[in-house]
Amino acid sequence: MANSIAIIGAQFGDEGKGKIIDFLAENADVVARFNGGNNAGHTINVNGKTVILHLIPSGILHKGKINIIGNGVVVDPAVLMEEIEELKGKGIKVTPDNLIVSENAHAILEKHIREDKEKNMHIGTTSRGIGPAYTDKVARAGLKLIDYANQSNNSKLKPFLKNTALLINNLIDKGKKVLFEGAQGTLLDIDHGTYPYVTSSNTIAGGICTGLGISPKKIKTILGVAKAYTTRVGNGAMPTELKDDTGKIIQQKGKEFGATTGRARRVGWFDALMCKYAVMVNGLDALVITKLDILSEIENIKICVGYKHNGKIIREFSNNIEILQKCEPIYEELPGWKENLNDANDFNLFPQNAKNYIKRIEELLNIPVCIVSVGAERSQTIILRKEFLF
Ligand code: GDP
Ligand code: IMO
Ligand code: MG
Repeated sequence: MANSIAIIGAQFGDEGKGKIIDFLAENADVVARFNGGNNAGHTINVNGKTVILHLIPSGILHKGKINIIGNGVVVDPAVLMEEIEELKGKGIKVTPDNLIVSENAHAILEKHIREDKEKNMHIGTTSRGIGPAYTDKVARAGLKLIDYANQSNNSKLKPFLKNTALLINNLIDKGKKVLFEGAQGTLLDIDHGTYPYVTSSNTIAGGICTGLGISPKKIKTILGVAKAYTTRVGNGAMPTELKDDTGKIIQQKGKEFGATTGRARRVGWFDALMCKYAVMVNGLDALVITKLDILSEIENIKICVGYKHNGKIIREFSNNIEILQKCEPIYEELPGWKENLNDANDFNLFPQNAKNYIKRIEELLNIPVCIVSVGAERSQTIILRKEFLF
């Protein structure tokens, strides 16, 4: 059986995937991106230093790991080179030994960025050219990185390019431990998200197979990452969105501003219907809950357990935009806790109400929570169930 773990966003992106990948990478050999591009912003904090990665996998801070950018990613060559230089400037080694990029990944060109800025304002995209680059790929009018490198005589890019499908299959067959790093989140998936307010790739676990060229049989464990509440950047429905002071408090305390564009993230309560749908379409084995620390001091915490639409109560998520936009969330209310969780390192010693909140999420989603994150630092991570990890 393959020894691999997938890390997938269970909400609208920015769930803290980068932090969790970095945490788990210590015991892994390989970290591989399979979708999206530099629309992603994955933040890692180690010993007070912050690194935001857009294209390069979140294993790069650990020595001796292989980082792969798969064929399913769209790569802006200039951004890739900049990111490599930026990391090198911080003393982090990035060479063709520890970063391998698929020659079959498609290039984001200037025209794609222009088009994204001109045509996709209504979606609220990151303006990185993601949609237009995938459009050209599907229309069979795109440019693979290998052809881009040859045509532009880009000798800096070429040494990083390989057939990564061959590479990753070899590594898995040799028993290497692989982390699949999702970008964006389930509700931004082109097929299963809140279309048209989505990104242009498959962000769900299914995207791993096509985006890297591996069999579904080679993915062993699939973990979803969810914030203890919900955020969304860009347009589109968000039934649990808060427009009151509580929303503002969570936004400020959680520093909910985009890692890629700096835009304010919309904030709302945890939506159990949405996450349960993520459990289904990804086949999640367990959940990682991040930012639990941000909910300290909130008197009553709400969880959305249903939607009311046209007088009817809906208990299952629907990505029908009309329902999502017009429905009224049905909430369950749980008492909060006052204690600061930033220094907590034992789940058993958590305030009872914080434990109850996690337990209720487990019950509603019908999967266990295996990690709880209580701060942005790598060290502020608590393992609840080892059996899902390396
Ligand atoms: P990603 O795109 O899923 O990797 O997430 P982002 O990096 O875009 O956004 C997550 C933000 O929350 C980053 O600024 C992280 O440093 C921060 N973060 C992650 N986990 C925690 C946590 O448990 N508590 C707090 N306070 N911040 C966290
Ligand atoms: P990470 O990997 C949050 C959102 C954009 C917009 C929509 C389409 O950091 O979780 P695009 O530029 O992809 O065509 O934009 O998707 N979006 C993200 N939101 N986190 C991300 O990535 C995102 N990548 C794209 O805001 O609503
Ligand atoms: Mg992000």
